[in-house]
Amino acid sequence: MTPTTREECAALDAADPLAPLREEFVLPEGVIYLDGNSLGALPRSTPARVADVVEREWGQGLVRSWNDAGWWDKPRTLGAMLAPLVGADPDEVVVGDGTSANLFKTVVAALRMSDRDVVLGEAGNFPTDLYVTEGAVGLTGGTQRRVDPDGPELASELARGDVAVLLLSHVDYRTGVLRDMPALTRLAHEHGALVVWDLCHSAGAVPVDLSGSGADFAVGCTYKYLNAGPGAPAFLHAARRHHARAEQPLSGWHGHARPFDFAPGYEPAPGVSRFLSGSQPLVADAALEASLEVWGRADLAQVRTKSLALTDLFLAGAAESGLVSLTPAEHARRGSQVCLVEPEEGSGYAIVRALIERGVIGDFRAPDVMRFGFTPLYLSYTEVFDAARALVEVVRNGEWRQERFRARSQVT
Ligand SMILES: Cc1ncc(COP(=O)(O)O)c(C=O)c1O
Repeated sequence: MTPTTREECAALDAADPLAPLREEFVLPEGVIYLDGNSLGALPRSTPARVADVVEREWGQGLVRSWNDAGWWDKPRTLGAMLAPLVGADPDEVVVGDGTSANLFKTVVAALRMSDRDVVLGEAGNFPTDLYVTEGAVGLTGGTQRRVDPDGPELASELARGDVAVLLLSHVDYRTGVLRDMPALTRLAHEHGALVVWDLCHSAGAVPVDLSGSGADFAVGCTYKYLNAGPGAPAFLHAARRHHARAEQPLSGWHGHARPFDFAPGYEPAPGVSRFLSGSQPLVADAALEASLEVWGRADLAQVRTKSLALTDLFLAGAAESGLVSLTPAEHARRGSQVCLVEPEEGSGYAIVRALIERGVIGDFRAPDVMRFGFTPLYLSYTEVFDAARALVEVVRNGEWRQERFRARSQVT
């Protein structure tokens, strides 16, 4: 039952098995943070871990740390730590580069594995997925088509029999719709296509079972629900059955079978390491390692249960504002965010700004969506109750109409 009073929320907080994990994060006083789906909060252990890598591993260890501190293997050791969060085996995930670069690597690798040349994408996908696809097909001489993945055209597009790669986001960044990964992967395979999944809004947000879904490739960032910090390195998954054949286009020395032979020709490493390219940001890796250790103490089933309870609570509270939700009421189709449509043109951004002034941080996605992310590791039921109440007040009393809330910042 969704609570209807602040007292009921406080009782849920008192009984919340994830509540102790909140202590692992630095959260500013007076802020209710509903933007962990854009940039996750800072784990308390991160500053010391980063300082240790800088001062001891770099400062004292110098170049010896490539061996002594395990720097060379970080993409693999971090990949193995992250793998359980996405339902993959430890040797199927590497950490490195950014999401966009990893999208490029996986889409081109998948195109090269097929004798077809079409990449089928989502019309409403996050722009980098669309742009990278444009770049990939431009380079390989293929073509791109786009569909609404939640409508019937997806099946008919696949049935045309020319799709090499289907590129989908597991959770839609603008609506919070969660896709059925096993069913869509199966459908693509039945029609001879490989699938690249973008997990930016699902890793750490919803249960992900790449192996159980038969997924081919996946990528995702670590700065949202995984709390690794701004611009943190991304991850890349390749199913083991593809390791021997997949050829990614950024064939750098870290992906070589024997990098320290310094041979003149490229020979890909046998496993997922072939998806690496060059040296990685070890200082940023330290922040990811610290945050993955926190994730190692979280029960993923509890995270999902609380995520659904928090989004239910916010949806119920926000309903009083009269705003229309794009987020499915159905749990099976919901990620860990709530997306509300602005009530009148140009109001969404201002409403979000007015809420931020009250200490409730969400964000705005053009053209008309107010987006609120729910991170069960560090959010409480009472906070979500208060945030929904603040939203209702801001909308009802027209507080957002003040001129100062309309001026757009560079980042929305
Ligand atoms: C679905 C999706 N893919 C990719 C990205 C970003 O890519 P990058 O990490 O390369 O900036 C985002 C960022 O919000 C996203 O939502």
